[in-house]
Amino acid sequence: CGIVGVLGRHEAAPLLVDALKRLEYRGYDSAGVATLNEGRLERRRAVGKLVNLSDRLVHEPLRGHAGIGHTRWATHGAPTETNAHPHAGARVAVVHNGIIENYRALREELARAGISHQTETDTETVALLCQMHLDQQMSPRDAAAATIARLEGAYALCFLFEGEPDLLIAARKGSPLAIGHGEGEMFVGSDAIALGNLTDRITYLEEGDRAEVTRAGAVIFDAQGREVTRSEKRIAAASAQVDKAGHKHFMAKEIAEQPRVLADAMAHYLRPEGGVVLPEPGIDFASIDRLTLVACGTAFYACNVAKYWFEQIARLPVEIDVASEFRYREPPVAPRSAALFVSQSGETADTLAALRYMQGKAETVLSVVNVTESSIARESDIALPILAGAEIGVASTKAFTCQLLVLGTLALEAARQRGTLGAEELARLEAGLRALPGLIHQGLTVEAECQRISRQLAEARDILFLGRGRMYPLALEGALKLKEISYIHAEAYASGELKHGPIALIDEHVPVVVIAPHDELFDKTVSNMQEVMARGGKVLLVTDAKGAEVAGEGVWEQIVLPEIDPFWAPVLYAVPAQMLAYHTAVSKGTDVDQPRNLAKSVTVE
Ligand code: G6P
Repeated sequence: CGIVGVLGRHEAAPLLVDALKRLEYRGYDSAGVATLNEGRLERRRAVGKLVNLSDRLVHEPLRGHAGIGHTRWATHGAPTETNAHPHAGARVAVVHNGIIENYRALREELARAGISHQTETDTETVALLCQMHLDQQMSPRDAAAATIARLEGAYALCFLFEGEPDLLIAARKGSPLAIGHGEGEMFVGSDAIALGNLTDRITYLEEGDRAEVTRAGAVIFDAQGREVTRSEKRIAAASAQVDKAGHKHFMAKEIAEQPRVLADAMAHYLRPEGGVVLPEPGIDFASIDRLTLVACGTAFYACNVAKYWFEQIARLPVEIDVASEFRYREPPVAPRSAALFVSQSGETADTLAALRYMQGKAETVLSVVNVTESSIARESDIALPILAGAEIGVASTKAFTCQLLVLGTLALEAARQRGTLGAEELARLEAGLRALPGLIHQGLTVEAECQRISRQLAEARDILFLGRGRMYPLALEGALKLKEISYIHAEAYASGELKHGPIALIDEHVPVVVIAPHDELFDKTVSNMQEVMARGGKVLLVTDAKGAEVAGEGVWEQIVLPEIDPFWAPVLYAVPAQMLAYHTAVSKGTDVDQPRNLAKSVTVE
């Protein structure tokens, strides 16, 4: 979820909606705003995308210079208008990101006091608890403080009070929150992106902080209630509105952009004369015996590819896990280990929590992020930007290939520092890496093929993806992309694992996408492919010219990519995986950029 607050000099509603637009990546199940109109609290809320709320505001405008807003990814309670934020008591409105874990106990306590709820949400409990304190004649500041003191769980909160047009109370525990400073105006936002159009002067609240915000500034208290100073930072203006540049969807634009953004990232990490540049103080790969890679979703699959890379060329043992599992596994952390967290948004709650678990345990905490102002970037020892530019499509594309590029560069540097590759071999791999933007540019020409084949895939109920070695994570990513946006059930298996169970699923209705460049494992994958074909399965082979020549006979369809150093093939083979998902979704007419039930960044656990 995303939250925003405005104490402005102009009408707040349009500013709130604009900020929410920038926060829609955190969810789009419903949205709402509340303002103070001549001191009186008024709310407008709407189910679904933000446009529904802005439409409503045209017909039922909201006046007032002070307000709060919210875009929701439903946790407690269905995405209905009643459950949409802001939630309100008689004289207070609240927006919230996170989960209040003890809300049931608080709800019962309120019920015993004769206070009943209108909704199923944990946030309404916060509003009603605060209202109860107001009814006990507490001031808004004290009522908010007393309410916050009772809450368990993770939250970022912003309160607006009737009759208090110059006050917002903001609080943060577990979920990030930023205060923005304007000229005689003040703002609150889930992140700097939200406030990008309003100000470039930001103060990040720290864990347990509560801020009393007025137009004169913010007074901040820490978890112990002591008044504290938090530094103000100038952030690079993130205000440029991104457009589709003539494409039908952001996802199509972002797929097409890959050669350029990869070249940008490469220019950042590779010296023109050869060799890798890393931000200060650099990373000492020779002093570690283990690397732990943690992420969610697509970023996790980038980690899966990187495991093959690091282990193969740097002989560095790599442990990988999804963030939500990693943290609760409470894994022992060996001395001499580094941890690396990969996240496009840098705000994913599970990944952030896993990072915090590793702080103080691993020798170095690294992150690979797209948003350099994000919580994950700020809380790691070294943050490596992927420089993909804003990624708007919920299904990650260019961020994935840029993550791979940065991770691949790190693997090369690790191999150099650890002396596990000869100079010649290092130079050969570096040349291969440098060739990627050009090869991906050529790879984009398979689009027409992908589009044609996707029309047939769109008819399928289930689709399997197979890959082996470093192409196995690509199979996983291909299946994830497809299910995310086309809603077709898709699964991926390591090719060799097929015969141990999933082969039972094969019949003439299940297309099987085999991702297999002509590499050292090709013959083995082809054997698995034959096992599918022998059972009537229809194979879509994604390979290169050599692979097509050797194994193309009898396959249902094939996509032929340019030849590439097999080591770097996962980056190139991401392109047809993305295009197949995209065109299948377009054929089915789904909402490609904002698929149902998903959020670009999930900021709750
Ligand atoms: C969400 C998105 C996924 C994304 C994952 C991790 O679940 O729907 O597409 O891969 O979060 O996001 P991050 O910003 O941490 O890379």
